[in-house]
Amino acid sequence: MTQEPGDRLAVFVAVELIEPVRRELEAAFDVVFSSDPEPLRALRESDRDFDVLLFALETSMDARTIESLPPGIRALATYSVGTDHIDLEAARRRGLAVFHTPGVLADSVAENAIFLMLGVARRATESIDLIRSRAWSGWSPTQLVGLQLSGRRLGILGMGDIGSRVAHRARALGMTIFYSNRRPLPPDHALFGTAQFCATAEELIADVDVFLLACPSTGETRGIVDASLLSRARSDLILVNIARGDLVVDAALIDALRAGRIRGAGLDVFAGEPDLDPGYFDLPNVFMLPHIGSSTLEARLGMGRILIEGLDAWASGKTAPNRLV
Ligand code: DGY
Repeated sequence: MTQEPGDRLAVFVAVELIEPVRRELEAAFDVVFSSDPEPLRALRESDRDFDVLLFALETSMDARTIESLPPGIRALATYSVGTDHIDLEAARRRGLAVFHTPGVLADSVAENAIFLMLGVARRATESIDLIRSRAWSGWSPTQLVGLQLSGRRLGILGMGDIGSRVAHRARALGMTIFYSNRRPLPPDHALFGTAQFCATAEELIADVDVFLLACPSTGETRGIVDASLLSRARSDLILVNIARGDLVVDAALIDALRAGRIRGAGLDVFAGEPDLDPGYFDLPNVFMLPHIGSSTLEARLGMGRILIEGLDAWASGKTAPNRLV
């Protein structure tokens, strides 16, 4: 689309954002920040016209919702890299442009993956519980013996931007890298020759000490971590999920953790968030976080800026690298 020079896009924001991102959006566009608990209803009932709807993961943009958007809306901008909450086909059918936030949060999410791996390896949940409960009776050589990551094998399912950034950091910790992807890395990839390709998730999990889920949630990957996959893991495997909760069959993982068939799990994402399977709460070998992978100031600012740049480019008829549809 091409906006007349001087015309500002009208953007309806249906997600809570940090103050500096709100200010940058306000400087770029005519923005309304909704504080309504049902922002889409507020949008439909508004007497103003908007060009763009900005929202995030908690808004399911399914076909019905897309069809019920006011006719003036011409673009969707999700404040996330993941787009599994959007029916892209329905957006395409309605002629909507769709923007997301690739790249800018990858370092934050990769750092969080290392945090989760270390959290499980060094028994963070038990350590924090011990010291906070004031039950710690002092140093002892038998207390909370964990594992070091150095010298261990990391298997990455999904060697995209985030997976690669985890691999670089894990190599610096002395880990060796294995991965599974649709295709092996091309020769010009920085990890070509240092990361070993496994054709399937089954092969990968059997070969490694830490198994990291870094792939998107698709029809192919949903429920990939099930009892059958877990039965191939070594008994000291650490499983880490930074991607999407629905990659894991919770009952199977909880069962394996409870029975000690794997060592532990580091989880930042859960099926049905925020109502995660209560079975996780009592497991000392689970280190869990409330989906904070991209919760850094740097990532949040980057996410706002890439959406502003993409929408600006679109409004002036240019190509935007973060446009999906
Ligand atoms: C995303 O952007 O998809 C992330 O899951 C948010 O951290």
